[in-house]
Amino acid sequence: MNNLLKTACLLLTTATLSTAQPTPVVKVNVSQPVADIQPTMWGVFFEDINFGADGGIYAEMVKNRSFEFYRPLMGWSVQGKKNTEGTILVENRQEKDTRNPRFLRVATNNTNKGDLGLTNEGFRGMGIKNGLRYDFSVMYRTQASNAKLHVELLNAKGEPIGQTTLPLNQSDNNWHKQAVSFNATATEPKGKMNVWFEGTGVIDLDMISLFPEDTWKKRPGGMRADMIQMLADMKPGFVRFPGGCIVEGFDLDQRYQWKKTIGPLEERQLVINRWNFEFAHRPTPDYFQTFGLGFFEYFQLCEDIGAEPLPILNCGMACQFNTAELVPLEQLDPYVQDAVDLIEFANGDASTPWGKVRASLGHPKPFNLKLLGVGNENWGPQYIDRLAIFQKAIKAKYPDMKLVCSSGTDPNGERFDYLNGKLRDMKADLIDEHYYRRPEWFLENARRYDNYDRNGSKIFAGEWAAQSDKTVSVNNKNNWLCALSEAAFMTGLERNAAVVNMASYAPLFANADAWQWTPDLIWVDNLRVYGTPNYYVQKLYSLNKGTHTLKMTQNNEPLAGQDSLYASAAWDKATSEVILKVANVSDKTQTRQIQLDGAKKLDPKGKLTLLKNDNLDAVNSFENATNVSPVDQTIPVDARKKTVALTLAPKSFSVVRIKVVQ
Ligand code: AHR
Repeated sequence: MNNLLKTACLLLTTATLSTAQPTPVVKVNVSQPVADIQPTMWGVFFEDINFGADGGIYAEMVKNRSFEFYRPLMGWSVQGKKNTEGTILVENRQEKDTRNPRFLRVATNNTNKGDLGLTNEGFRGMGIKNGLRYDFSVMYRTQASNAKLHVELLNAKGEPIGQTTLPLNQSDNNWHKQAVSFNATATEPKGKMNVWFEGTGVIDLDMISLFPEDTWKKRPGGMRADMIQMLADMKPGFVRFPGGCIVEGFDLDQRYQWKKTIGPLEERQLVINRWNFEFAHRPTPDYFQTFGLGFFEYFQLCEDIGAEPLPILNCGMACQFNTAELVPLEQLDPYVQDAVDLIEFANGDASTPWGKVRASLGHPKPFNLKLLGVGNENWGPQYIDRLAIFQKAIKAKYPDMKLVCSSGTDPNGERFDYLNGKLRDMKADLIDEHYYRRPEWFLENARRYDNYDRNGSKIFAGEWAAQSDKTVSVNNKNNWLCALSEAAFMTGLERNAAVVNMASYAPLFANADAWQWTPDLIWVDNLRVYGTPNYYVQKLYSLNKGTHTLKMTQNNEPLAGQDSLYASAAWDKATSEVILKVANVSDKTQTRQIQLDGAKKLDPKGKLTLLKNDNLDAVNSFENATNVSPVDQTIPVDARKKTVALTLAPKSFSVVRIKVVQ
């Protein structure tokens, strides 16, 4: 190289050196865990909204199986040439059976298949799978001769795709349950079911039911396996159930009462679902709660998927957006008793009255309930007065039971401030905060919990979701902007695990043909299910929870919005891994040198799970279910320097796991 060239090279190098910015350093203190991350940290919120239970996880395919909807034949239509006045009647045995008063009375007279029958339309159709076994059952009473039912599955064109015959052999004056199974011969997302009558004489029918064989854990009369699998895959720390506003009910009469949701199905008294008529813009007149899924099934679900059960009970107040009915304080006893009995139902041994009930339902072992919510979105001094009575009674008998208490509907404002103050004075175990807000709110609030009192009540971020438009707007989308802003916000929840002990996105499920509220974490139709980008964010947090928080700073500050980066770090004691979570909300690639202070020896290979999309409007759909979904790759770790060079893609959420080798 001649001298001139050498000089030119030197100048160029100097110029490059003087303009290049050093990669900012982010320090993670690996040797000093800051706080425990509770096993309950990331959970799910389940409510029967959007056809979440009936028409959702509850795999019953027959709508209005016991004719108890306001319009008794809603979901059913009468068929056949012998369909004349009075051949099919709805009888009401109100005085004798107040829980399941109605049944169907069918008059047959030399009736054959095709002469007289009923069609059930299912929940926006029935999802039928080719080759799958279907279990039909019915309660009947008849003295007719030669009585039979012919059951047919139909495709959308009305052609049979599976059929069977069920003889109704027992002709006496008693009700009998009878079942038959058969296989479908084709797949159909919008199927129907016909039940044709044969015989001569009167046939009484009730609880006409159809379940697929492939329920969760193959339990007869169980839950939709594909939907539950989505939850199981998240490994949630808890399941909050059964809501939500349905706990409160439109009025007290329609509140959720757990004791009415256990035991024989035909004795579980149906109520109208308060989401049936809540939104004039999304009426759902066929939305009722049959309670085929009741508290026993919810406890069992929690046990199946390794989640802590978190039941929420009515506190003696109906929904304050609706009737705002109150139970007078001196009449609150039955409500408090329901709570105390629920604890015994879940935890008592089989010698206790309610433990015995649980054992009789097939679960002698306790469910080990540790958390209980009193009230959903209740507010005002009326709530505090009632809560105090619950708190006193429950703690007197079960001092270790952790009570979840409502801070109302919003994360700020007069209502919130009042409740927050009172709840802290009452030494509430967990304060349930709700925030349905725009994505910007989530970014602005990444430091919300940095200054919360570490020694006071803990926080349950119980219901929240970024709203791309506004709360209760039908235009809200589960888009990548919302999911990314939630991912960013959640770094703040994790960083503050010393005070935030639980968090859940809401609502959980939506039936694409029958929803009232959007956005929702998981969308389904009769045969399919997909997770939204928000689902993948929740799942990534839950699967990468760790056991302790670690200090993670740039220039001695947590990364909570500087350069549009949001980050947190955790230690996983079980696997000896450092887990980093970084949301890059900007539209440019950014680099950070992560310095792992105090780590002894590092595995030179780290794991990066990347969730990203260049389009903030991107969504997932049935057709493109993994449009925004995580991708794994290996990244190098400088084991000698104890550093990792992170390249953060624009509009991305990265989860990095680095193993500390002992
Ligand atoms: O998640 C939907 C509803 O939002 C819940 O039922 C209620 O608690 C909140 O207002």
